Parts: sequence; structure tokens; C-alpha cells
Amino acid sequence: MSKQDVAGNAEVPEAQAVSESEIAVHWKEEATIYPSPEFIGQANLTDPGMFERFSLENFPECYKEYADLLDWDQYWHTTLDTSDAPCWKWFVGGRINACYNCVDRHLPKYKNKAAIHFVPEPEDEPLYAITYQELYVRVNEFAALLRDFAGLKQGDRVTLHMPMVPELPVTMLACARLGVIHSEVFGGFSGQAAADRIADSGCRVLITVDGYHRAGKMINHKVNADVACEMAEKLGQTVDKVLIWQRYPGKSVSDTPMVEGRDFIVNDVLKKYAGKRIDPVSLPAEDPLFLMYTSGTTGKPKGCQHSIGGYMAYVAGTSKYIQDIHPEDVYWCMADIGWITGHSYIVYGPLALAASTVIYEGVPTYPDAGRAWRIAERLDVNIFHTAPTTIRMLRKAGPDEPKKYNYHFKHMTTVGEPIEPEVWKWYYEVVGKGEAIIVDTWWQTETGGFLCSTVPALHPMKPGSTGPALPGIHPVIYDEDGNELKAGSGKAGNICIRNPWPGAFQTIWGDRERYVDTYYAKYCKDPNSKDWRDWPYLTGDGAMLAADGYYRILGRIDDVINVAGHRLGTKELESAALTVEDIAEAAVVPVVDEIKGRVPDVYVSLKPGFDSDEEAKRKVVAAIETTIGKIARPKNVYIVPDMPKTRSGKIMRRVLAAISNTLDIGDVMTLANPDVVEDIRVLVQGKEKVATKKGPEDIERFGDD
Ligand code: WTA
Repeated sequence: MSKQDVAGNAEVPEAQAVSESEIAVHWKEEATIYPSPEFIGQANLTDPGMFERFSLENFPECYKEYADLLDWDQYWHTTLDTSDAPCWKWFVGGRINACYNCVDRHLPKYKNKAAIHFVPEPEDEPLYAITYQELYVRVNEFAALLRDFAGLKQGDRVTLHMPMVPELPVTMLACARLGVIHSEVFGGFSGQAAADRIADSGCRVLITVDGYHRAGKMINHKVNADVACEMAEKLGQTVDKVLIWQRYPGKSVSDTPMVEGRDFIVNDVLKKYAGKRIDPVSLPAEDPLFLMYTSGTTGKPKGCQHSIGGYMAYVAGTSKYIQDIHPEDVYWCMADIGWITGHSYIVYGPLALAASTVIYEGVPTYPDAGRAWRIAERLDVNIFHTAPTTIRMLRKAGPDEPKKYNYHFKHMTTVGEPIEPEVWKWYYEVVGKGEAIIVDTWWQTETGGFLCSTVPALHPMKPGSTGPALPGIHPVIYDEDGNELKAGSGKAGNICIRNPWPGAFQTIWGDRERYVDTYYAKYCKDPNSKDWRDWPYLTGDGAMLAADGYYRILGRIDDVINVAGHRLGTKELESAALTVEDIAEAAVVPVVDEIKGRVPDVYVSLKPGFDSDEEAKRKVVAAIETTIGKIARPKNVYIVPDMPKTRSGKIMRRVLAAISNTLDIGDVMTLANPDVVEDIRVLVQGKEKVATKKGPEDIERFGDD
């Protein structure tokens, strides 16, 4: 057992030899911070009794509380049907429409209230609000077009390849109104990526835009639709209609020619449907609402299928209690709608609660590091939601910028990867001005909504820890053999969820076997069982549970480096590097070492104004040695101009691992910044290209998700 400090936090044990199945955790516990009385005074959830009501004894009936946040056409008779385990069905017998719940039902009270604030990237272009009434009109007209012009009906799939423009939620909601299953592909993805998803889900209609603003450029997006159709055809899927929204109605921003008979300008066709109203289709609760493909870097992307009733109940509930959204709030989630965060927490959750949700077209640092804070000031945003990668970027670009703007957040979210305590503290003190509570929400595309987070008015915050599980979520940490790792053990293992919950995906589109294999097979107690207790859900993340009941997520289970028998979480090392003042970003990868097996290589980028010298490198080594121990001493520290990143901002550790180990780097053209890869390669390996060779399996796979 580890010792505890006065706050009841587990003290971190010394570096110790651990078995293959465990990860040594050396991360120091941070002091906790309590929410302010002002926040508590206005919060949606202040009753700790919620956890009792959502205990396992009251499962699954407790989730009625979430379902009752929605309007049902027909109430359900069975809360959870497990007969097709592990494909869970929620609220069976119920009929519902997601679009109705996000739009129509708000009209009596809120028709004149902003549903969406749209902020174009060019700062001289006026921003505008779409009221709930206006959203209702646009969604109806577009639903009429989808039904009567595109011939789409309940159960059909349609691929959306759209950027951050209000036409995207309009399109999603119009699909939802008809029971058409939308599959939105992140706008920054290539035509090829769209094609793979079109083919996998069998779409014959593609909805896109002609272009959009990004980092000061007008992106020609129509050209991707041509590639997508061509490649999909090769994969055996014909797209017979491409519907193109114009960024500026009536004026094209793309010179890519239209394909006669296939391509249609939405804004022209829509004229025919002016004033049309389409009744929301009353749908079984367990029908699919959308597919969201996970952004795996290898292998076929997985189409996570989300339901209507369960998903909507879960995102409405978590938006209300964890995001603390009230109808009068101005809520800005800076994620992209092309990811699950945007689906759940820009579109469906906030709109189900009649909030005003902000959609920003461009990059947060365009044209300068103050842009995000000017938007916050201008719209008087009071709930802000973003990811550690963005927070690091904003901190690097303008560490003092937030101070120049008069905005006040009551609440901020971080999501997507573990946040280093150093970065958390900047978010709290500078972005939040010490006034806003922070929730660190841990979840996945597959889970539909949050799994772990503090409840903002109930729990103190602890930098770097996601917090306890949400009401109704019952995690367990297993070692390789299925033994439970208890709170305060100081050891990490595979974090699983014991019970189903309404937001969970239903299956992988068209591949039930892969769904069962990937997420349930490992710890399943009996593959024939119809009892949910026999089917813990494997998240694939490593985590440890502190004595105080807070979970610390260490990242994907594969992102570990085994140094002389010690499995080190790469996140821990990165976090240590980030305690050095000079460092803006850090990425750690394994490099083969004759004696120790693997040792860490550390890549860092510096904040502006700091010198790229030996001193900075020495500080990084010292920080890692003091936080974690000599065992974690890096082989090399490289100072790089920027990290290779995916379009969604995730650092591509796979690429860095390949460079460190002189392996084939593979295709990097889909990265946000492919050019930096060669710069880093030259820095590490020298000008001359080294012959590529195959590497050990763990290094070849490193960083894949
Ligand atoms: C990681 C994003 C630590 C985790 C919603 C998970 C996090 C993967 C956190 C899912 C967090 C997400 N702290 N790690 N707060 N949130 N992750 O599917 O490894 O894009 O499995 O969903 O991101 O990423 P996805």
C-alpha cells in the first residue's frame, strides 16, 4: 500500500520493477482546487444524492432520469434490453425524433433566441446568429430537399464532408428529422478518406461545400468531392448525387467544374423547397442516428454506430450536469463537428438543452493569438470547451493574450488526451482567470459522451486527473489477467466500464465481430451470457485510480515504453518535460537500446523567445530525472520547430518513433504539416537518407490508435 498525504491523496511509490501487465506510475499527485460559491450557486447539479440514485443497485432504471430530459412520441417499456449482448438496446419500445428534440420543442419558448452563433474566419466578415425559428425553417427546407430531390429515406446513409459552417448542423438535423443516418467526415480529411467511409457505409449521396476559410486561405473543397466519388467508385460504391452548399449563396468560391447530372448546388435547388415543412419522422429509440468513423492511423476505420434515444438522452444529461449548460448560456466548444466531441457537445447536447452554441469557422490563432479571446469577449461566451493540444498551442502563441480581453468564463472543459498539470494551470489561471471551473472529461468516439469527469459543483478539481466516474458509470481497472487494481495501489492497468450506458455505440457498422473482439472479448466472463455483468467494456486506455477515487488516464495502453522492465507512460515523461519553462510541446517515443531494451527519445518545441540551446535540453533531462527517476533518462532530446500533427491536432508519435529508429516513415501527406517531417529527419539523422529497414513490432505499431 502506498502512503497518503493529508488531503487523502495517494503518494506515489518509488520507481519499482513491475510486471508486464502493470505500468509504473510516478506522476506526482497535485493539490486540489474547489469550485467557487458563485459557480455552485447557479449549477444544475448540486445534489450528491445523484450518485446514490445512479448506483449499480439502481442500474439500469436510473437512466430514466436522463431519458426524461427528452420529449418522446411514445414512451418506452424496457429501459435496457440485453438479449443481443453485447449489442445493448436502450429505451426499447420508445419512439422519438432527435431533430424535434433539438429544434421544434424549443419554439414555444425560445423561437427568437440564438441557437447558433456563426463566426466566419475573416474578421471583417460579420458574424451572425441563427435563431431557433430560423434553424427550424432551414432544417425543414433542407429535409424536404433530401427527401424529395435526393430521394433519401429512413435508414439510408449519407456522407457529409463538411467544415465548420452552420450548414453542417442544419444538414445533420435535417437527416435526423427523416431518420437518415448521417456520417460526417472531418472536413480537413482528404477525398480518399471520405471515399473509404462512403464505401464502408454504402452512401449514394455526398453532401459537401464549395469552399471555406482556413488560416487565411480559401480552401477549395469541391475538388475533394470529385476525388471521393472517383475513389468510392473503385471501391464499388457509386455516388449518384453530390449536394454542394455554397459558402456564399449565389456565388461560387471553387473553380472546380460541376459534373453534369451528379453535382447540384444546394442553394439553387433549395429555392424549390422554400417554405416547405416536413413532419419529424417518429423513429424507434434504438434506430441509428449517425455513424462516426474513428480516426485510426492504421487498419480500416471503424464506423461507430450511435442510437437515437440512448445517445440523445446521454448527451442531454451530460451537457446539463457536466457542461452545466443552461438555456441562457453562450456555449463555445472549439472542437470540430467532424469529431465526436462536436457531434455530442456542439450540436446534439447543447441544442437539446436550448443553448446558444458557437460555431467558429477557422483556426483559433488566426490572424493572431488573440482571436479566440476576442470571439469570447464579443459573444460574451461563458462556457468554453477545447483540447489540450489547442491549449498548448494557444499558450505557445500568446501566453498573455487572454489578459487583454474582457470575457469571463464560468466553466471550461478539456478533452481528448491527458492534460499535463503545467498546461492545466495555465488554462485555469490565465484562460479562466482563476474564475472558471475546469472539467477534464475522459471519453471516446465509441462512448458517445463523457465517462469520467468531476461534477463541476460537487468535486474539487485536480490538475492532470480526469476525476471520478460520472453518475451511472462504473469503471474497473484490470491487470492483464483480469485482477482488479484497487484505488491507491499506485499501479495502472486497463480501464474498463462494468456496465452499459445509454450513450455507448451500438456496434461497428457492418462488423459486429470486430465490435465484440475489440471492445468486449478481452475480459468477457462468458461469451454466451445475456447478462451485462459478464461484459465489461474495454476502453483500450491505461489508467490508475488514486486513493481519493480520481482516475488518471495515461493514454492508449500501447503508448508505453518498457525501459529495463519498467513500463513508463509516455504521457508522464511528456508531462515532466513540460514543467520546464522553455517548453511548449513535448512528445516521447521509444528507441531501441541494446542494454535496456527501449529508452525514451524526447522531442520538444520551444515557446517563442526561448533559445534552442544545450541548456534547454539539460533542463528537460533534469526535469524527467527528478519527476520520474533516472530510469526514465532520455537517450536524446531533440528541439524541433514543430511537432508532426494530424489534421485533428494529435501529435504523430508514430512518425517520430520511425525517425528515432531510422525506420520507414511511411506516408505523411495527410498530416497537417507534412514538411516538418523532413526537417526533423535531417535534424536527427543528418542530410543523407538512411536505408529503411523493418523495426521491432512494438516500435512499428507505436502511436497507432
Ligand atoms: C483519449 C475523444 C485523457 C483517450 C472524445 C481516449 C483522454 C481517446 C481524455 C479517445 C482525457 C480523451 N484525458 N485522455 N480527458 N479524453 N482521451 O475517440 O486515450 O477521439 O481513448 O474521443 O482520447 O479519442 P476520441
